[in-house]
Amino acid sequence: MPVNKHMNLPINSPDDRPAPESRIVINGGRPLRGRVRIAGAKNAALAVLSASILADNEIVLENIPNISDVRAMLEIINYLGARSTWLGPDVVRISGGALVQREIPYRLARKLRASNLLLGPCLARFGSARIALPGGCNIGSRPMDLHFKGLAGLGADLGIEKGFIRGTAKRLRGNRIYLDFPSVGATENIMMAAVLAEGQTIIENVAKEPEVVDLANFLNNMGARIRGAGTDIIKIEGIKSLGGRVRYAIIPDRIEAGTYAVAAAATGGDVTLENVIPPHFEPLNAKLREANVKVEEGEDTLRVSAPEPLQPVNIKTMPYPGFATDMQSQMMSLLCTVPGTSVIVENIFENRFQVAEELRRMGARIKVEGRVAVVEGVPRLQGAQVKATDLRAGAALVIAGLMAEGQTQICNAYFIDRGYKNLERKLKSLGAEIDRI
Ligand code: UD1
Repeated sequence: MPVNKHMNLPINSPDDRPAPESRIVINGGRPLRGRVRIAGAKNAALAVLSASILADNEIVLENIPNISDVRAMLEIINYLGARSTWLGPDVVRISGGALVQREIPYRLARKLRASNLLLGPCLARFGSARIALPGGCNIGSRPMDLHFKGLAGLGADLGIEKGFIRGTAKRLRGNRIYLDFPSVGATENIMMAAVLAEGQTIIENVAKEPEVVDLANFLNNMGARIRGAGTDIIKIEGIKSLGGRVRYAIIPDRIEAGTYAVAAAATGGDVTLENVIPPHFEPLNAKLREANVKVEEGEDTLRVSAPEPLQPVNIKTMPYPGFATDMQSQMMSLLCTVPGTSVIVENIFENRFQVAEELRRMGARIKVEGRVAVVEGVPRLQGAQVKATDLRAGAALVIAGLMAEGQTQICNAYFIDRGYKNLERKLKSLGAEIDRI
């Protein structure tokens, strides 16, 4: 099957959703105040865990968030024969000595979109891959044509067969690959395969997200030769095998941190985020400052407060260093009560405005037309029963619940557990009234 026919992969149906359902209950109206420690980055952890199957040696990973997406990825690599053990609350040891090529079944792959990140590592490690089409959040069509184009450029033969991504590669050979769009997942998959390919690979128009750089740093720690991560062009000199005793700490989660930053601003609070890398926040900070939020950067902290009335802003989501699509829904909640008109353009995932309907139940005035949402500020939001439709929509509803008068109940809370470690505990420590039923 030709590569460009794999455009629209299925997303998970309601039947895939894990039971039992839990709800988050928030009594809103309290400003968040205090300090909160940010966990390791979900998206960096998922990529690094996928890459861990490229080597036999023992790897110790620090700052791994114990969230359901990470547990699902660990389940998959264990299924492939790796041995993973939690050594502490956020430290995982992985040993890949007993890895075997196995088909990754639907029951495992459906749990997270990032199961597709095992395609490159499986091809490089085993010479073949069979992975059930991934599940994950219903935020758009999420094609894989760029992953396929890049891996085909390295010599892999790929296709979709009976609900599986199938790939074989007797040998991978370095090549020059141009990505039509700087896809995070495609950049990562191609990079992970190219580290063990013969010769040089040059990938152009790559994603520059900090999580891509973190993956490259991790691979280089295992002996890979990758240059240019964080710029538009990545160059990789293939080597025969990766190894060495590796201990690696994942970067902090800029999206988790950003969510608390927006929650602090939206409730008129004053919160210091600990364990962050402030330069990763430039795109968000620029918008927060434009909205009249006060942001003070420390060495590894950010203090966010909103002492003055906020102002409307316009947002366009873009690949990094543009404004992150993963922060768009949370900003939408904040803008709901900012006097005036804010315009949000979503350029990455077409279904990311589902949260607008839920926010409207809480009294928000939002008009959505295609990829554009127009938010007219209302004086206040009112608590209501709402449902999370994806991970970041869930986070946005938590923020809206914290802002609102009265009680908000958010169902489908499991979406939120995919990306936020100890959400209720952290928010309670900042003064929120939040519980789970
Ligand atoms: C990653 C993140 C996700 C984030 C997104 C964008 C992980 C595990 N997930 O997802 O949280 O929201 O980056 O920052 O890291 N595209 C194609 N063809 C492809 C691949 C992607 O057209 O082969 C398009 C997508 O439809 C989308 C855009 O490229 O419009 C960005 O997607 P991509 O960067 O690949 O996102 P993910 O890696 O899936």
